[in-house]
Amino acid sequence: MAEVTKESASAEEQDEASEAQIAVHWREEESYQPPAGFKEQANANDQAILESFAAERFPDSFVEYAELLTWDRKWDTVLDTSSPPFFKWFVGGRLNACANCVDRHLETRADKNALIWVPEPEDAEIQEITYAELHRRVNEFAALVQDFSGLQAGDRITFHMPMVPELPVSMLACARLGVVHSEVFGGFSGAACGQRMADAKSTVLVTIDTYYRNGTLIDHKVKADEAIEEARKEGIEVEKVLVWRRIPGEYHSESPMVEGRDFFVDELLEKYSGQQVEPVSLSATDTLFLMYTSGTTGRPKGAQHAVGGYLAYVTGTSKYYQDIHPDDTYWCFADIGWITGHSYIVYGPLALGTASVMYEGVPTYPDPGRPWRIAEKLGVNIFHTAPTTIRMLRKLGPDEPAKYDYHFKTMTTVGEPIEPDVWRWYYTVVGKGEAAITDTWWMTETGGFLGSTLPGLQPMKPGSCGPAALGIQLVIYDENGEEIRRGSGKAGYICVRNPWPGRMLTVWGQDQRFIDTYYARFNKDSSSKDWRDWPFMCGDGAVEAQDGYFRILGRIDDVINVAGHRLGTKELESAAIEVEEVAEAAAVPVVDEIRGKIVEMYIALKPGYEASDEVAQKVSQTIVKDIGAIARPKNVWIVPDMPKTRSGKIMRRVIAGISNFADVGDTSTLANPEVVDSIREQVQSEKRARGDVPQDLSAKEKDEIAAFGSGSE
Ligand code: WTA
Repeated sequence: MAEVTKESASAEEQDEASEAQIAVHWREEESYQPPAGFKEQANANDQAILESFAAERFPDSFVEYAELLTWDRKWDTVLDTSSPPFFKWFVGGRLNACANCVDRHLETRADKNALIWVPEPEDAEIQEITYAELHRRVNEFAALVQDFSGLQAGDRITFHMPMVPELPVSMLACARLGVVHSEVFGGFSGAACGQRMADAKSTVLVTIDTYYRNGTLIDHKVKADEAIEEARKEGIEVEKVLVWRRIPGEYHSESPMVEGRDFFVDELLEKYSGQQVEPVSLSATDTLFLMYTSGTTGRPKGAQHAVGGYLAYVTGTSKYYQDIHPDDTYWCFADIGWITGHSYIVYGPLALGTASVMYEGVPTYPDPGRPWRIAEKLGVNIFHTAPTTIRMLRKLGPDEPAKYDYHFKTMTTVGEPIEPDVWRWYYTVVGKGEAAITDTWWMTETGGFLGSTLPGLQPMKPGSCGPAALGIQLVIYDENGEEIRRGSGKAGYICVRNPWPGRMLTVWGQDQRFIDTYYARFNKDSSSKDWRDWPFMCGDGAVEAQDGYFRILGRIDDVINVAGHRLGTKELESAAIEVEEVAEAAAVPVVDEIRGKIVEMYIALKPGYEASDEVAQKVSQTIVKDIGAIARPKNVWIVPDMPKTRSGKIMRRVIAGISNFADVGDTSTLANPEVVDSIREQVQSEKRARGDVPQDLSAKEKDEIAAFGSGSE
């Protein structure tokens, strides 16, 4: 992999880079110390914690996380490595995740809030759900699932639910029974839900009639009909659809309730009122849930997470990285349909007995001051969200946070690399300079954080997630499987050397795919029984600086190869965003006869700025200045909005398809499908007018464009 090519490197110097290199041009950023007063109250405020998680103490170090839970039976073996890479944690131990998140708090915290649900309409009443109330709701729904649906431990159930409290209630109820839940992000299409049902062989669907999004009630139940149709095509007959109602007693959907198949949950629940169900004592290595993640190719992969290891890992990391204390008011502004929501809205925070805030709607409804009003009103002191939300709020309401009286002690960013400029806005404007930021890097498959600073102990550095998380041993390999020297700043494939409790057990039903996707590449001896021979490939490119901080360059498949130079999309985008007028940027490759591919940029502006050639010029110049002439964009398209998934990730393959006059692929998971046609019209008509329409793409090129960036969707 490449030497770090500093900003000053000329295009000629860069030409010496080999095909395999990812060129890196990031500037080193200055560090920020944790705010005064934070450390004293922090859960991790003693350097000794770093010692107790040192590599020599592996795997026993993770017992500290397991001990945060209440076990029915203690484990016999901390880590069983006898069948790599199917590592097993806390073997012999028995516990129940729901009992850990709900029942065990009843003695001391029955009347404290567990969930605080904020509906999107601002005049609607906020629901405060205490641990006692959560216990009641969870038990009643568990009774229903057990009795009416006839499901037992190990069976799968699919949820297609938005951000309403009935979602965590349903999750915890199933966790109580050992029924494996598989929540499909509410914004996904019915077909996407049906495919996932078929993969999980799940015959019961839990959904809702409607929910608020951007001021309107969306018809959600219609998606259940599509899901059932799709599952049927794939050979699975859905037997029961349990339909929650967003507004009690009312039904807001065009979709008819099918006799004998569709049932209103509120009606069924009458029979189970006041019923209690004993939590089922499960083995630590039993499955808690599936979370599907889309791969570049092939059907989605069901990441299968374990009851014991997963719960221990998210509880421990919630405690030390989110710095959650029971009396905090914690708001993770993400969707539970995403792994972040499972780990850091539901399981981690509730295991710690804190109050976890959920918000139904979009960040900017009815205006971009909304999140800060919620924070002020509820006294939120820990805030957690994704760069896409931060960019959107910066774009539409840069001065809003200052108008509200809230105080955060910590803030998290998660989901993609954050541009240093955006980080600084988050720190100074949203955090008012008072909050420690954790930039938590991880993925669906890993259950919890892999890289982050400990907020009370380690300084922050914009754009870097920080060092490896406690007990995690990160290593970067080059193209040939050689370890890159630590701290050398050279880019490569980041991997985790050791097993850790949060890692998924396997890909549901596809053990071989699990090995192939995450282990095959850097495992040198497939018969080895030594865990050291089984580094887990995360799929991201990264560099480690001298201070041991990791900078994530994005997914390996997001790299744009211009004449043999591998340019990371994120650094192109970070350069573009330095331009004052720019709110968001996306880099995509266009096929070029001479250089193979060249860069094309898509830009969305902050409000109050007009699209102009001058802005496009500035973007181009900044990229050339920061990265080099090799990265000069062929075009800079200023568009009203980017095509995004509902979790806010820009779908680069869609705009790559447009730029290349190629197929844009599946757009069923887009939050704003309407922008696709308008961007196509804008870009392709201009290109046609210039005579810039590519010759027919080769099959390989078509595949590359179609897959571009899809690993990070
Ligand atoms: C990216 C989300 C940089 C990364 C939890 C990873 C990040 C993918 C960060 C996983 C971060 C997540 N800095 N990149 N702090 N967090 N990513 O499965 O490319 O939805 O591989 O899990 O998001 O996305 P996933």
